[in-house]
Parts: sequence; structure tokens; C-alpha cells
Amino acid sequence: MIHSYQDALAFYELEGAHPGGFELTRHLLRNEEINEYDNVLEAGCGIGQTSQYLAETYGCQVHALDNHPEMVKQATKRFQLGNLPVNVYMSSIEEMPFPNNYFDFIIAESSTSFTNIQTSIREYYRVLKPGGTLISIDMTAEGILPEEQRKEIMNFYNLKSILTQPEWISAFDKEGFAQVKILKSNTVLEELKNSKATESRILPSNEDYNRILEEHYRITLTYGNSLGFGVFRVMK
Ligand SMILES: C[S@@+](CC[C@H](N)C(=O)[O-])C[C@H]1O[C@@H](n2cnc3c(N)ncnc32)[C@H](O)[C@@H]1O
Repeated sequence: MIHSYQDALAFYELEGAHPGGFELTRHLLRNEEINEYDNVLEAGCGIGQTSQYLAETYGCQVHALDNHPEMVKQATKRFQLGNLPVNVYMSSIEEMPFPNNYFDFIIAESSTSFTNIQTSIREYYRVLKPGGTLISIDMTAEGILPEEQRKEIMNFYNLKSILTQPEWISAFDKEGFAQVKILKSNTVLEELKNSKATESRILPSNEDYNRILEEHYRITLTYGNSLGFGVFRVMK
């Protein structure tokens, strides 16, 4: 069986698996006005760290969605252990099990990039209430990537596309989002240099998953100047 990058993240229970990590998540959420009555979606929740934080910090109605069975299992375990009333869904962002105009706030951290981006942005627009906010942390191409590089990165992460920052903005515009603000952007490599070391844990070892993570670090170090990320804050 061929394993994916997401399988390796799930196996090692890696959280904050987005540029800027959980530190950036907390910083972004601090600037949002979220209250206990708000319906909040974490799209591509991984093992549920941000959803846990949302439920504990704001007491809002949290919905955590991911299409990876192991991520969903880990996130469910986390919410049960914490006795947190978070609703968990195993579903693709591209076709979500929610009615139109349902959410006040959506956060998607390094997940939209792994989907058919335009379809997912259309879904975000559909399920957001008018006046609702989406924050999406997404991978960007810093200019035109040489074809070989693009192929290698897309193959490894199983991506359908890698958009530049202006292409992301056009994709949000196209679905009708009214305001597109970029709260932060950086190259992956620069961000890595600025990031604090995370706690080290003793992890179970698995050769296959180790190889995948090593390949992820190699790609990050080799192409980290050509790859970036943007934090997009958009409103319906
Ligand atoms: C890089 S991880 C980030 C996880 C989490 N947001 C975090 O920051 O730690 C990407 C996540 O997006 C999920 N994902 C990828 N494609 C998806 C899709 N089409 N629908 C739902 N989730 C998806 C993966 O399963 C994975 O949990």
C-alpha cells in the first residue's frame, strides 16, 4: 500500500501542521469576534487541535470536518477525552454535509490546497452566512514554478494545483467573496527559520512514514523559497 503525506501526519499525530503552526492559529483567532452562539467550522481539522481550542476558548458551536479516517478517529478521541461538544464529520471539503448559509466563521488551515480549490471555495461560500468570515491558510507558488519542480511537489502532496497569491485572490473573487484580505504571507523557508522549535516527543517508528516525512522536509528545504503561504481572510 502506498502511503500519503496525510497518512504520515495522522500516524505521528502531528498537529499544527500548517505554516506558522498553532502559534499563528491563536494569533489569528485572537483578532476574531467569536461568541458562544456562533456556528464555526474547521475544514480539514486533522487531529482537531484548533477545534479543541475554539470550543474551549469561545464555547462556540464547533464542527470539525476531515476526509481522512485516521484524522477523524484521532480528533473524535481528543474531543471525547476533553469532554468537548464538538461535532465531527468525515467528509470532503468539496462537498460538505451542511445547509446553505449555516456558518458564521470557517477556518481552514493548510487543507484547501489539497483539494480542488475552486470547488472548495464555492462550498465555503455556500455554507457561510452572509457577512460570515473565512480564514484560509494556503500554500502559494512564489511566481512561476519550473515544470519539473511543480510536478515533483504536486506528486508528493497529491495536489491538483498550486496557485500564486493573485490566483487565490481571483478564485475567491470568482465565487463572490466581497473582501479578500491577506493577513500574512511568507515563503515556507523564511517561516521555518522564524518558527520556534516544537516540543519533541518519543514517537513510534515506522520506516515508511519516516521516509515520507523526510521527503516532506527535503522538499521544504529544497523548494522553500519557491513555495510560500498566504493567510486569506475573506467575507461573504
Ligand atoms: C496538512 S494537514 C493540516 C491539518 C490541520 N488543519 C492542521 O493544521 O494541523 C491537511 C488536512 O486536510 C485534510 N484534507 C485534505 N483534503 C481534504 C478534503 N478534500 N476534505 C477534507 N479534508 C481534507 C487532510 O486529511 C489533513 O487532515
